[in-house]
Amino acid sequence: MPKWLKDAVFYEIYPQSFYDTNGDGIGDFDGIIEKLDYIRGLGCNALWINPCFDSPFKDGGYDVRNYKKTAPRYGSNSDLYRLFGEAHKRGIHVLLDLVPGHTSEEHAWFLESKKAEKSEYSNRYIWTNNCFRAPKKYPYIGGETERDGVYLLNFFKCQPALNYGFLNCEEDWQLPVDHPDCVATREAMKDVIRFWLDHGCDGFRVDMADSLVKNDDEKKSGTCAIWRNIREMLDEEYPEAAFVSEWNNPERSLNAAGFHMDFYLNWSGNGYSTLLRDYESGEDNSFFKKDGKGDITRFLDEYLPRYTATKGKGYYCLLTCNHDTIRPKYNLDDRELKLVYAFFFTMPGVPFLYYGDEIGMRYLKVPTKEGGYFRTGSRTPMQWNAQKNAGFSDCPEDTLYLPTDPSADAPNVAAQEADENSLLNTVKALLWLRHGEEDLQADADFEVIYAKSGRLPFIYRRGNILIALNPSGEIVSAPVEAGERKLLFAIGGGKTDADRITLEPQSCLVLKLQLS
Ligand code: NOJ
Repeated sequence: MPKWLKDAVFYEIYPQSFYDTNGDGIGDFDGIIEKLDYIRGLGCNALWINPCFDSPFKDGGYDVRNYKKTAPRYGSNSDLYRLFGEAHKRGIHVLLDLVPGHTSEEHAWFLESKKAEKSEYSNRYIWTNNCFRAPKKYPYIGGETERDGVYLLNFFKCQPALNYGFLNCEEDWQLPVDHPDCVATREAMKDVIRFWLDHGCDGFRVDMADSLVKNDDEKKSGTCAIWRNIREMLDEEYPEAAFVSEWNNPERSLNAAGFHMDFYLNWSGNGYSTLLRDYESGEDNSFFKKDGKGDITRFLDEYLPRYTATKGKGYYCLLTCNHDTIRPKYNLDDRELKLVYAFFFTMPGVPFLYYGDEIGMRYLKVPTKEGGYFRTGSRTPMQWNAQKNAGFSDCPEDTLYLPTDPSADAPNVAAQEADENSLLNTVKALLWLRHGEEDLQADADFEVIYAKSGRLPFIYRRGNILIALNPSGEIVSAPVEAGERKLLFAIGGGKTDADRITLEPQSCLVLKLQLS
């Protein structure tokens, strides 16, 4: 396990939208470099950068045309290597995004694979052997290639699935996982991983990590075996490299597949979604909504067994948002967000902050861009100040990659830096508190002290630190074990008697137990 993850806090950057230094309306590597001090000052010491590789951008770069070449819109490979170096100088680790399940239909491997004549790439993708024979369970494209057969897709039409084999072969065109051509796909992906790690990258966020082997069993044994093989390579050659999976099944991803971290993703109706995005029914019952009928047990019932089952194996990580999810500001105001972040940044695992969530950037209603659809509204340019294009770019407004928030009260970094009560300054205070207290970091024990269905507050313990949260508009209190406590941090206010904690409306107290 890479030791640096213990105290890591990640900042996710959608590179198109972070900071544009050359006036072409789109973010670039130099822009990220210029803002590294801001990121470090905020308290983030690790980055995850969404795919920044050569791509036709039909899915925001998740359609990779060349795994080893950066997209010219962001800069050259050397610019990215420089970014690694500049980040390291400031104590920041950098994860890139690995897309192992599919490539762009324009990738050189696919251009070879779709030819009628055989080559070493013929089986790099999954083809049936007759254009009129369709796979039963998987999406596919037929009738577009000189090669006879249809090919399987992993996501959009532009993303043919790479061939890691089938755990259970049911048709003659399906290859077993140990077929040399399927093993070659895995080795090709290892080659990509080594390439970037050798150039200074510190690991990867792994896209659709569970999608590799087809006809896999319920436990995803075939896919897990591939990742374990990759983990062995990492342990031997790159022990400090960190991998986080897009999987949302920590028992699989951490225990069985060997990932260091997994995301607790926002899936409709799951435990995480009850915290801040429980509005699909039309009524908002999110736990952190002031007037919601928040019930933390809906989160804990799912989280606790997963946390317990994976403790010591890897980290199940909480995130404010990501490039696929509606921003938390959509339904929560800044006061509510402060409490959300107080929770996320005092929980076990490694927290992930999505760029712009630290200032409460809005989810914007904008037309789709580069395969984003509803997700585009969470991918708009970072708002640095109240000047032209929110300080994101010098370009004419109509050449911006995406519009900035047009509202008069659009949040921005400069204004919030100057306001000591801003969301940004609260995030900063929380993150630096976490860095200063080992008990708030990834590994320290987590224990629920008071959590009752339909009742508040919610109180939990990390090592010797107590965190008490009251997202509601009422004064609430709960009994705690008698003891002396020192206040480390507060949002709002409250009272701590020897054996009881009382919280003002919308408050959070972080208290250190004074051991005699
Ligand atoms: C998950 C990524 O987060 C998403 O943005 C992408 O569209 C799909 N995987 C396909 O790669």
